[in-house]
Amino acid sequence: MSSTPRPTVYIETYGCQMNVADSELMYGSLAAHGYDAVEAPDGADVILVNTCAIRDHAEQRVIGRLGELRRFMKADSIVGVTGCMAQRLGPKLLEKARHVSLVVGPDGYRALPQLIDNARNGERGIFTTFDLEEHYEDVTPRRTDPVKAWIPVQRGCDYRCTYCIVPHTRGAERSRQLHEVVREVRQVVETGTSEIVLLGQTVNSYNDGTNDFADLLRAVGSIDGVRRLRYTSPHPNDFSDRVIAAHAEVAAACEHVHLPMQSGSTRVLKRMLRRYSREEFLECVDRLRAAIPSLVLTTDIIVGFPGESDEDFEETLTAVTAAGFSEAFTFKFSPRPGTPATRMPPEEMIADDVAGERLQRLIQVVRAQSREQNIALLGARTEVLLERVAKDGELLMGRTRDWKTVLVPGHASLVNSYHMVELTGTTGSTFTGTFVQESAPSRQPLPMAS
Ligand code: 5AD
Ligand code: SF4
Repeated sequence: MSSTPRPTVYIETYGCQMNVADSELMYGSLAAHGYDAVEAPDGADVILVNTCAIRDHAEQRVIGRLGELRRFMKADSIVGVTGCMAQRLGPKLLEKARHVSLVVGPDGYRALPQLIDNARNGERGIFTTFDLEEHYEDVTPRRTDPVKAWIPVQRGCDYRCTYCIVPHTRGAERSRQLHEVVREVRQVVETGTSEIVLLGQTVNSYNDGTNDFADLLRAVGSIDGVRRLRYTSPHPNDFSDRVIAAHAEVAAACEHVHLPMQSGSTRVLKRMLRRYSREEFLECVDRLRAAIPSLVLTTDIIVGFPGESDEDFEETLTAVTAAGFSEAFTFKFSPRPGTPATRMPPEEMIADDVAGERLQRLIQVVRAQSREQNIALLGARTEVLLERVAKDGELLMGRTRDWKTVLVPGHASLVNSYHMVELTGTTGSTFTGTFVQESAPSRQPLPMAS
C-alpha cells in the first residue's frame, strides 16, 4: 500500500446554479483522478475559484477573494480560476494575480487534471476554447445536497440580450440528449433525492434534435422517485403551448416558475433585445396562470438600463403588479465590456444615484406585494420539503412546492422528508409553520386556503 496521501482540492463557488453544478462536476472529475475534496482552503493542494461575470460587483468580489486566498496557500498549492470570469479575462487574470496558475473556462473542465499536473511542474495554463460537444457525460458529479439535484440540460445561450455577458462566457446553446438526462436523474433518485432542478440559460428552449422541453418535462416527471420537478431559467418566448401543457400535466412539476422579465417597458425591452413587448410578456404570464392554477411567479429585473426614462421605470413598477410576482431579484444595470449596451450613447447612461433610487422603489413595491400575498396565505396547509437546519440551529428550513420558505421546529433527522405544515406566521417574505400530520399523503399540493 502506498503511504502517499491523496492530494486535496477545495472549490469555492460564485454565481448561479449552473456554477454550483459545474463545481460538482469538477469535484467529480478530480476525485476520479485521485483527489480528495476538502471543505476549507487552508493548506489544500489545489484551490479553485469558480467565478461569475454577470455584474462587475461579482467580479470585484472574486478579485478580493483571490488576494485573501493567498494566505491559505502552502508553498506548493495550486490556485486556479474557473468559470465565466476565467473565460472573459483569460490571460489578463494570470497577469493580474501572480499566484494564480490556472485559468479555465466552462468548457475546459475535462482538461483540469492535466493542467494541474502541468502547474505542479511550473507551467501556468489557460484553457478558454469553447467545445460545442461538451456536456461532461462521462463525469460523475460529486453531489453534497441530499435534498435536491441540479441537472444541467443545456449549456450556453443563443439569445443576445444587449446587457448580457453570458453568450460571451458560455458560448452557443447546446442541449444534452434526453436519454442522458433521464439516466442521470435515475441515478440521483436512487440515492434518495426527490427534487430535481433542470438547468439551462434559457432552459425551455431545450431541444436535443428530437425532443423539446415538453418531452423532457414529461420524461423526467415520469421517473419513479421524482416528486418535485423545477427548472430555471425559462425565456418567455420559449413557452410554447406544448411546454405549458407539459408543465400543467406533469404531477411532479411544481407550481412555481421563475420568469425573468428584466423590464416592464416595451421601449427598454426592445433596446435590451429581449424579443418580447410588455404586452407579450404579460400574455405569457396569463397563459401560464390559465394552465397552472395557483402558480407562483418570481422574476429578475434590471433598473437603470441605458435610456431608461422615469416613465419606463414606472412601467416596470406597474408590470410587477400586473404580473403578480411574489418575489424579484433586482439589479442595477452593470455595463459588461464587449456587450452592445456599453456602446449606447454616453448621454443615455443612467446616473448611479438615479439607478439606486429606482432600485429602492422597486424593492419596496415587490416587498409590499409579496407581503400582501403571504399574509393572505396564513392558516393554509401545504406540503413542505425540509431542506436543512436553519442558521440559528433550532429550526428547520423547508420549501413549499410553490417555493415559499417555511421555518418549522424539528430535529435535523427530518431533513429531506415531506410534511404537511400549517403556515402560522410570516415576516412578509418567509413563513413560520407547524406540522399538522406525520407526512404528506399525496403528490398533489392541497388547495391553499383563501
Ligand atoms: N447588469 C445587471 N444585471 C444583469 N443581469 C444580467 N446581466 C446584467 C447586467 N449587465 C441580471 C439579469 C439576469 C440575472 C441573472 O442577472 O436580470 O436575469
Ligand atoms: Fe454568472 Fe451567468 Fe456565468 Fe452563471 S452563467 S456563472 S450567473 S455569468
